[in-house]
Amino acid sequence: MRGQPDLSGAPTSAKPFLAPFRGEALAPPPVWLMRQAGRYLPEYRATRAKAGSFLKLCYTPAMAAEVTLQPIVRYGFDAAILFSDILVVPDALGQRLEFVEGEGPRLEPIRDVASLARLDAGKCAATFERVFETVARVRADLPKETALIGFCGAPWTVATYMVEGGGSKDQAETRLWAYRDPGGFAQLIHLLTEASVEYLCGQVKAGADVLQIFDTWAGSLPKEQFFQWVEYPTATIVRRVREVYPNVPIIGFPRGSGVKAERYVEVTGVQGLGCDTATPAWAMHDLARQTGAVVQGNLDPLVLVAGGPLLEAYVRELLGVLRDVPYIFNLGHGIVPQTPPEHVARLVDLVRKGVN
Ligand code: CP3
Repeated sequence: MRGQPDLSGAPTSAKPFLAPFRGEALAPPPVWLMRQAGRYLPEYRATRAKAGSFLKLCYTPAMAAEVTLQPIVRYGFDAAILFSDILVVPDALGQRLEFVEGEGPRLEPIRDVASLARLDAGKCAATFERVFETVARVRADLPKETALIGFCGAPWTVATYMVEGGGSKDQAETRLWAYRDPGGFAQLIHLLTEASVEYLCGQVKAGADVLQIFDTWAGSLPKEQFFQWVEYPTATIVRRVREVYPNVPIIGFPRGSGVKAERYVEVTGVQGLGCDTATPAWAMHDLARQTGAVVQGNLDPLVLVAGGPLLEAYVRELLGVLRDVPYIFNLGHGIVPQTPPEHVARLVDLVRKGVN
């Protein structure tokens, strides 16, 4: 168990978002939403239409910076998250990627060691550079009280997209490769770990205050595999980023990790734990106490779509149960396109003013 953070002499930052990472339980807690820049916003849809394609939007710094700032302008969230995608890393490595309208990402699948020859870590820098320029632009335009979150996908989750060739229900091909040929699969994970360190360090250098590692499919692995493919690579990324930037807080989001979440925090050393929708608020409280990590989450994105008294009840519960631990308000997964923008405004209001 990690001890309580030492608060003696900690400076008061102008950014409320950073206070929980110094051990402060803020009232109201800082708030941002996963996928806060996205299709539920008409201004996003307009910029996206101008860009022509999702990847073009990701790789055009002026437009990517514009959509990063849109939810900040509209709602005044405590943090902006860089507009990009976790699949920029396979794209940078040279795996062909496209986003098919209404279907999601499509990649040319990589299912064995021989196919790894198609990837080239030396090629990453040129692609990453465009994302770093977006970070620098956002940094320059962001209000000084707003934090900027950089991110990457965790190697396991990114590998699932690379192996399956897109999204999948159960990540079966990836799990099979990892079971049948752990040595070969480890090469892919290693490649992704190295590229992720480069990607995250570049984002911090360009101005990111905090990093989040998205492990959307962490929940599909039994425990030994979870240790090997989720915890171990994430621990390596955290250690390596910290060697360069010791003070940048890192939030892990091991979605679906359940009872393995406590060990995940201990082993990886993340200072923040993103909790998914299935985690009860009391369990988030226990995790905060047991690990010393900041907990973040975990309103069901569909409760936000439903709105009304249900939304108030869920927000009240989260704010009540988590009021005495370092906590960041968020959803338990990304906001969905059918979310009414006025429900988001209501949510921010409820968090900031409290639910009566
Ligand atoms: O606002 C933000 O949170 C920042 C930008 C961001 C996006 N994707 C933009 C995006 C972030 C942090 C992500 C992370 C991401 N991308 C994850 C991890 C988090 C999660 O949701 O589980 C994953 C698994 C991806 C991969 C990905 N990108 C998929 C499966 C899809 C298609 C599904 C969908 O929602 O359309 C995307 C596309 C994507 N990434 C969109 C956005 C705004 C929609 C694309 C569009 O505008 O056409």
